[in-house]
Amino acid sequence: MSPLWTEIDQHLANIYVGPDEALDAALAASAAAGLPAINVTPTQGKLLHLLARLLGAKNILEIGTLGGYSTIWLARALAPGGRLITLEADPKCASIAFENLARAGLGSVELRLGQALDTLPVLAEEGRDSFDLIFIDADKENTPAYFEWALKLARPGSLIVVDNVVRSGAVLSPESSDASVQGIRRFHDLVAAQQRAREPRYSATAIQTVGSKGHDGFALVLVNSS
Ligand code: SAH
Ligand code: DHB
Ligand code: MG
Repeated sequence: MSPLWTEIDQHLANIYVGPDEALDAALAASAAAGLPAINVTPTQGKLLHLLARLLGAKNILEIGTLGGYSTIWLARALAPGGRLITLEADPKCASIAFENLARAGLGSVELRLGQALDTLPVLAEEGRDSFDLIFIDADKENTPAYFEWALKLARPGSLIVVDNVVRSGAVLSPESSDASVQGIRRFHDLVAAQQRAREPRYSATAIQTVGSKGHDGFALVLVNSS
């Protein structure tokens, strides 16, 4: 039997999300292509969507596309004339995501292929508008570096959401040999230092999540005016 939280998650997804042709097709195509099922859950996707709408986001950046499931949720929240850029290192993921986004009628999403640590500096050099919302969800080892880039590409009032900040509790282990866990721990160290600063650059919190993807969590970071 599945854990109670998985059953509850399905129950909530039925109520708060329900069937959705483009999202369901994106997951089916991703599974058929053999992509790992490490996308956000439906209720988490909807949370990202609601946050983007709440911000009236016109510029969204995502780091880690996979098959474009979270991308679809975020892109659908864009204000008219809005733009979404999503960064992905794996060509196979990118091509599946490209098809999934096209099928969802979101062909204007800009998918940039490459290691995010290479594509982020390029993005910064373009000197475009700052991003209202940045979703960090790529390799966890580089989460601290992505977070530093996100702060550079944000403005006061921007929201940075960081996925996978709990890892089934593994983040409690300073001696962990898992590079992902150490990456998240270093991200948490950055936040801890900043929250103790006299004039913190941002205000942040984290919430644990349980559900169909197990036990994990999101960090929510609001960039302060400087
Ligand atoms: N946001 C997606 C899930 C992303 S999974 C969703 O919720 O639907 C993490 C993704 O990050 C994978 O597709 C992986 O290929 C990508 N990734 C891993 N390392 C990366 C890197 N260095 N640069 C860019 N993308 C990377
Ligand atoms: C992994 C990555 C994710 O973005 C996620 O949400 C869950 C798991 C992973 O690499 O294992
Ligand atoms: Mg994730």
